[in-house]
Amino acid sequence: MQGKFIVIEGGDGAGKDTQIELLKKDFPDFVYTREPGGTPLGKELREIVLHEKYGSLPLLTEAFLFLADRAQHAAELVAPALAAGKSVISNRSWVSMMAYQIYGRNQPELKPIVEASVAEIYKNAPIDLAIILDLPSEVGLHRQREAGKAFDVMEQMSLEDRTKIRDGFLETAKTLPQAKVIDANRPVEEVYKDVKAAVEAVLK
Ligand code: TMP
Repeated sequence: MQGKFIVIEGGDGAGKDTQIELLKKDFPDFVYTREPGGTPLGKELREIVLHEKYGSLPLLTEAFLFLADRAQHAAELVAPALAAGKSVISNRSWVSMMAYQIYGRNQPELKPIVEASVAEIYKNAPIDLAIILDLPSEVGLHRQREAGKAFDVMEQMSLEDRTKIRDGFLETAKTLPQAKVIDANRPVEEVYKDVKAAVEAVLK
């Protein structure tokens, strides 16, 4: 039987990493991965796109590098794992692309390209559950500042852009039946109860 493909989504500072660490304890047999950076090639692409290895990039280049990472990730890791019956949890997916590149970067003209690319890239690995951790953008920004995080290219976006990204997640969720929006502006344990319940429901 094909495994389940679950993605954890949300704006920067929403608590994805923390929730994934908790999931690892309860679901140790799953494959845990991420976009960008879930494969050796993807790690290179992550450095290029998030840490300006080749300087500041045109937005179109940025979008295609995220797609290249995704194509490699689906082919090398996600689709084979699902086919082998393993469930996969990915820290981000193409849902982030809708939020960041289409809404945050204000490129609605890219939407059909992204949709067509994602349909092809993920034709053997449709998402079973997209957990979207939602919180006000200023709370995410505040959390990251408190944690003293060094900001990457995407995290340097303005609060206004972060708000567009949040809207992008919520708008995308409306069109994705597998999406489950969870209020992330609560204590970690409370959020996790909902996250775990959503994962358990999709495994049934
Ligand atoms: P993270 O893995 O530490 O969350 O960093 C990934 C960053 O890349 C984050 O700011 C969201 C951004 N991103 C995009 O802009 N487009 C994408 O398609 C993906 C997967 C991530």
